[in-house]
Amino acid sequence: MRGKIVFFEVDQYEQELFREKLSGEGELVFYPHRLTHDNIDEAKPADYIVSFIYSDLSDRMLDQLPNLKGIATMSVGTDHIGLEETTRRSIPVCNVPAYGPNTVAEHAAALLLALSRRIVESVDRTREGVYEYTGLTGWDLKGKTIGIVGTGKIGAHVARIANGFEMKIIAYDPHPNTELTEKYGVEFMEMPQLLHRSDVVTLHVPLTPETKHMIGQEQFSQMKPGMVLINTARGALVDPNALLDALEKGVISQAGIDVLEDEGILKEEKEFFSSYFKLQDYQTALANHALMRHPKVIVTPHNAFNSKEALQNITQTTVDNIKGMLSGDRVNQVNHT
Ligand code: NAI
Repeated sequence: MRGKIVFFEVDQYEQELFREKLSGEGELVFYPHRLTHDNIDEAKPADYIVSFIYSDLSDRMLDQLPNLKGIATMSVGTDHIGLEETTRRSIPVCNVPAYGPNTVAEHAAALLLALSRRIVESVDRTREGVYEYTGLTGWDLKGKTIGIVGTGKIGAHVARIANGFEMKIIAYDPHPNTELTEKYGVEFMEMPQLLHRSDVVTLHVPLTPETKHMIGQEQFSQMKPGMVLINTARGALVDPNALLDALEKGVISQAGIDVLEDEGILKEEKEFFSSYFKLQDYQTALANHALMRHPKVIVTPHNAFNSKEALQNITQTTVDNIKGMLSGDRVNQVNHT
């Protein structure tokens, strides 16, 4: 046996795949639920933990896992993990760097089209048996300006798709990808300028302490009135209360959202009663509920990654990550140990 590998947030299908591909690699223990402070005892015997993003692997959890030797997250994002603490303790963290950046970009495009052509309201109407288009006028993407914030792997695919729609593409990234300028005429500029000029802003940046609430009251005040916001990156990039205020004032006319701040609580509302909960968390949860019910907003439940092709890539890369950690020949490590 090469150690105990404890998996959280894995369904039956994934469990079978991991059992098959990791046979003989260690003792495998599977839990379909996420790891929280309430069930930390399940993680304590683990040499390696595998999870998706709803598991809490922050510093306060890592403190209680003194024997941990490695973490494999089945995601691009690592904001659910106390990365500095893992580095300090020499615990390698491996992620799935690119399981299909087109997958998330296609979902961003789906949200945008659903808003521009009022697909959700249209389908709601016909499902009620009403076959009538009055009041469902949409708007064209062609000729509109899209502002891509973050032109990494996913943002680059968004540029490709927006180019297909003949949109004017502008972008902000501290490390501009000049290839996108050559291919699709993407014009890079600073954030305030981008906010001022965009008809649509779409976010594709990682969540870090620096990017938390990077779209807040100040940024909304710099936007072109009536702008459309798409967020398939991380909920906490946007201050939800400021977004509600911007919708109320018409600064934002529509929003398409796949990610909400502290979305874990929307999955398990018993978390509300946890002693870890602060007033701020309740306010965020209330704002999330208001956004989910808002007539100008469509929210999907962090579903952008969820295509058949992407899921196959996620499980295969996670298997490679685990084998790499066990053999010492690590791949896709995101921290420095
Ligand atoms: P990436 O690492 O390829 O690109 C991120 C880009 O953001 C980089 O070019 C970086 O320079 C830029 N950036 C960093 N800070 C910035 C800032 N303050 N302003 C503007 N740009 C900034 O990452 P990738 O693969 O494109 O993914 C982006 C994010 O999408 C991930 O970090 C993750 O949080 C999210 N994501 C969401 C999924 C979903 O299912 N909704 C699935 C996969 C990723």
